[in-house]
Amino acid sequence: MKSDAFRVRRAPRLETEISVPGDKSISHRAIMIAALSNGACKITNFLEGEDCQATARAFQQLGVPIHRVEPGVVVVQGSHGTLTASPREIDCGNSGTTMRLLSGILAAQPFTSRLVGDASLTKRPMRRVIEPLTQMGARITALGANETPPLVIHGGPLQAITYTTQVASAQVKSAILLAGLFATGVTRVIEPAPSRDHTERMLEYFLVNLRREESRGDSGRWATECRIAMLGKQHLESRDFTVPGDISSAAFWLVAAAGQPDSRLLIKNVGLNPTRTGIFDVLVRMGAHLREIVESIHEGEPSGTIHIQGERLTGTVIEGAEIPNLIDEIPVLAVAGAIAEGRTMIRDAKELRVKETDRIAAITSNLRRMGVEVDEAEDGMTIYGGGKLEGARLPSYGDHRIAMAFAIAGLFASGTTIIEDTACVRTSYPQFESVLTHFQRGERALWTPPAAIPSSAGGRDSQTSFRG
Ligand code: S3P
Repeated sequence: MKSDAFRVRRAPRLETEISVPGDKSISHRAIMIAALSNGACKITNFLEGEDCQATARAFQQLGVPIHRVEPGVVVVQGSHGTLTASPREIDCGNSGTTMRLLSGILAAQPFTSRLVGDASLTKRPMRRVIEPLTQMGARITALGANETPPLVIHGGPLQAITYTTQVASAQVKSAILLAGLFATGVTRVIEPAPSRDHTERMLEYFLVNLRREESRGDSGRWATECRIAMLGKQHLESRDFTVPGDISSAAFWLVAAAGQPDSRLLIKNVGLNPTRTGIFDVLVRMGAHLREIVESIHEGEPSGTIHIQGERLTGTVIEGAEIPNLIDEIPVLAVAGAIAEGRTMIRDAKELRVKETDRIAAITSNLRRMGVEVDEAEDGMTIYGGGKLEGARLPSYGDHRIAMAFAIAGLFASGTTIIEDTACVRTSYPQFESVLTHFQRGERALWTPPAAIPSSAGGRDSQTSFRG
């Protein structure tokens, strides 16, 4: 029986090599897009965390045959876009991605569905998907206060829309694009800054024609606007797909290594999609040495190896169009800020208040319990780093990324840090605790995904880039 608290002590210097489990965002989309395609699709290195399992179960309930043929490998029999009504409500568990993306697909199905979630998901805002999907012609009722779940979706024929999102949200963009697959006309989504583009890449890989444009602003490498256009009623050609390792899971170990001078860590087979690698820029600005090698573009998604070497970190500012590119890494980057000398400011990240928990409040409170000075702002925080971190007993707030980020903080703290209520970690990284244990013992921590990722040697799209 797995414990549901982590006990963490200071770790020896890291010098090791790991791989991380399959990407959560991509695993959700692989099930969904395969389920709508025209034949059988084998998905390899599928993340068997609770969130992605909720997505797989939802599609099984909607009449899609999905079989686990071995650990991390599932075969999805595509439905040609025609699902069958579920006699029961669909439980999305803790997963906002499941509920929001599925809403887009169910908006086009000629039946009524009811989507529910756990206590955390039941508090999360759904207006952001209800509004565009209603404009397209669906009828959606949110039964909770302030347009929160459960959702009742009466689907039917949809019309394409042009929609400008208020925040850069991949979940909102994806819900609209997935609905747009069934709509008459050209669906257009305009985002204030680009969010992760896994849906677009996977649709293209399934031979859907999309047009994408990004305009570059003055703020360096960050694009300031992103437009996507897609004609509806295109067919999805079934394909096999291999999911790269999750950079958001790798992020915990990157910070563990970055903050310890002379640590070295190699992470293999990890997704290197440029809409997800904002954490690299931040760690390099803070002083870490990082090298990223794109070894292949597996079926549309770049993946490869990251090598990081630790340093004495210094504080930085994280804000603006960089935020959507590292939104899920902010809890662990805040921990990096506490370890670093000087001030780290996080701004423009109000979205953190509506994640699995209010992450701004959770980070601020847990850092203070460890003796770190933090000023909380509505859209972020200022962390005064460089002091000693004190071991403490910390709540996880039922949020997987808070639990894991503060386990990493515990590696840098005096005494013992106890993270309570860590069952939530199973949503995205069931193997986290065993890697943590290896690191603490100073062993070479090697966790290999259950299914090997095909060798990419000699891949046509190889490219190398160096940072730091
Ligand atoms: C996700 C998008 C992001 C991210 C979440 C996963 C996705 O959410 O925080 O963990 O898979 O599309 P938002 O779309 O709300 O920014």
